[in-house]
Amino acid sequence: MTWFVKAFLKSSLAWLALGVTFGVAMAAHPVWTVYRLAHVHMMLLGFVTMMIYGVAYHVIPHFVGFRLHRPALAGAHWWIANAGLLLMACGFVARVLEPAVGTVILASGGALSALGAYLFVYLIWRTIDGPARLRQASERAARAVERSATQGSRTLTVVAMQSSARHA
Ligand code: HEM
Ligand code: HEM
Repeated sequence: MTWFVKAFLKSSLAWLALGVTFGVAMAAHPVWTVYRLAHVHMMLLGFVTMMIYGVAYHVIPHFVGFRLHRPALAGAHWWIANAGLLLMACGFVARVLEPAVGTVILASGGALSALGAYLFVYLIWRTIDGPARLRQASERAARAVERSATQGSRTLTVVAMQSSARHA
């Protein structure tokens, strides 16, 4: 298991622990539900999405039989995703207290989180397609198999026609 897969799984668990603590705090002290959006994103971007990132980076290469495309970028994704969410959570809280400052922090965190998501889309997409050279080689092989199957069935038809003509 690569370091960034473990790191995504562990950060997902850490966000779960933080998020439920925040949830219990809001449940116990309803005034704090003004910070609900920080809890929501710790849960959904932190726990759920990071768990999916980690599991997908590990499992999808096995599913498709190709190595993960540019693993170094997946490592960068971990930093970007966690820095982004941390800023977003702070931004959601700050937006309640100081809207102008909060919006700047939230927008920077949101941009980083979105960048992380785009990286994930790109890396998994390219992993599913496989390396370009392998893809071209397998397409060439498939065409060759198709051609030889067509030629084979043509030959069989000619042989069958010749033999039925001989027996007629
Ligand atoms: C110990 C566990 C949890 C506690 C105590 C808790 C508590 C809360 C509280 C108090 C609210 C605010 C409700 C309000 O606005 O009055 C809330 C909202 C929310 N929580 Fe949790 N939560 C927990 C776990 C989770 C988990 C695991 C998820 C998702 C994976 C989640 C997702 C949400 C969402 C999406 C909202 C916003 C709902 C809305 O739009 O009004 N929570 N939670
Ligand atoms: C780049 C990533 C993301 C950004 C920048 C972002 C930003 C936001 C913002 C600014 C709001 C609040 C709008 C308002 O002021 O009412 C919001 C609400 C919400 N977001 Fe996100 N979000 C992101 C990712 C996600 C993801 C991945 C999920 C779920 C898997 C999600 C679920 C929600 C939900 C359920 C709400 C409504 C919560 C409520 O009103 O109680 N977000 N998001």
